[in-house]
Amino acid sequence: MKINNVAVNKIAEKYGTPTYVYDLNKIETNVNHFRKAFQHDTIKTEIFFAMKANCHPAILDIVAKNGLGMDCVSPGELQLALNTGLPKDKILYTANYESEAELKFALESGVIINLDDISSFHRLIRTGVPEFISFRINPGKGRGKYEQITTGGVKAKFGVPFEKAIEAYQTAKEAGVKRFGAHMMTGSGTLDNEHFPMMLDLLLSHLGKVSEKLGIEFEFIDMGGGFGIPYGKDEAPMNLQLIAKNCYKILEERSREFHLGNPSLSMEPGRIFVGDAGWLMTRVNGIKESYKKFIGVDAGFHTLIRPALYAAKHTFIVDGKEELPLKDIVSICGQICENTDILAHDIPFPAVAEKDLIIIENAGAYGNVMSMPYNMRMRPAEVGIYNGEVKLITRRETIDDYFRRIQ
Ligand code: LLP
Repeated sequence: MKINNVAVNKIAEKYGTPTYVYDLNKIETNVNHFRKAFQHDTIKTEIFFAMKANCHPAILDIVAKNGLGMDCVSPGELQLALNTGLPKDKILYTANYESEAELKFALESGVIINLDDISSFHRLIRTGVPEFISFRINPGKGRGKYEQITTGGVKAKFGVPFEKAIEAYQTAKEAGVKRFGAHMMTGSGTLDNEHFPMMLDLLLSHLGKVSEKLGIEFEFIDMGGGFGIPYGKDEAPMNLQLIAKNCYKILEERSREFHLGNPSLSMEPGRIFVGDAGWLMTRVNGIKESYKKFIGVDAGFHTLIRPALYAAKHTFIVDGKEELPLKDIVSICGQICENTDILAHDIPFPAVAEKDLIIIENAGAYGNVMSMPYNMRMRPAEVGIYNGEVKLITRRETIDDYFRRIQ
């Protein structure tokens, strides 16, 4: 198997396993494909990269170079975004249950702030009253690929409930805020093309009530991220052109109808830019014929937690055995001392042997960023490939890294 024209077995031999490999050219293609779909003659469109999906500086550089801003969720991510040298109006700060100190950092950095709650506004103005503020509105509904990643609706911890939207903007207006925006993020990983126009319509109808009551206009409407990618052959990619067309139409019509002004359309997707541009290489350590057949590999939920956390499904390629019949039914497991350390349950698989190289697909989003050194199995290496150049972008974590922090 090759990634960006480079044989994976060569990368594995040189850098070891488990290792994440990114095709940085593919990230560039993904970004440009998305930007091309979301363009409009009169509606200003701003696309921010939700760096939580993968915040490696090499990836942030590619994304920024190709015209995206950054959406960050913590002071650490904000620091990484500032390090890219992007102008302040291309950086969003969209955290939740924000501390006073982090709001101070965000305000003093001069970036755009999406507040998670009215209480956040009170913490923010202990530092100062910004000229512009945006609130994250929970429109009362949400849709994610899994319940655990559905971030809107009555069970979600995020955002200002829409019943309190008027109160939020009124509080901000009375405190002296002059310019306003609104944000939502209702779920991650959906493949439903109807979802975005439908949620945008719902958000705008809530904002209509705000503008009617308070006479304010909105400069910025951010409909969040959440664009899914296919994780298996049974799933189809989203139709971005169709989504864009429907969203622009709704934004134009509703802005006019509800006197919202001429807001820009902003988005902050993560997964769709990097998900299919990352692979996790892992090697078979041992094969066990137990009550069922287990293929034990050197990655586990400490390396890629999505299967354990959400029962997320990834696809697997055995290097050099791509054409073999899938004659076995196996579960692929890691070495962590937990029963949930299963990367795939009961999947058809070719006959494999110890030391075979397995490549886990679609691991570029929420992969290494969610890894941890549990059981003292340290975090993996990361390799980037760009224009034919293969580069180690993160060296493998070692036990010495751990001891450096121990007092
Ligand atoms: N904006 C905000 C405020 C978010 O909370 C998120 C994701 C995004 C943007 C980007 O969403 P995306 O376009 O990547 O779907 N760890 C999970 C995904 C959690 C997403 C949380 N928020 C997974 O592995 O599927």
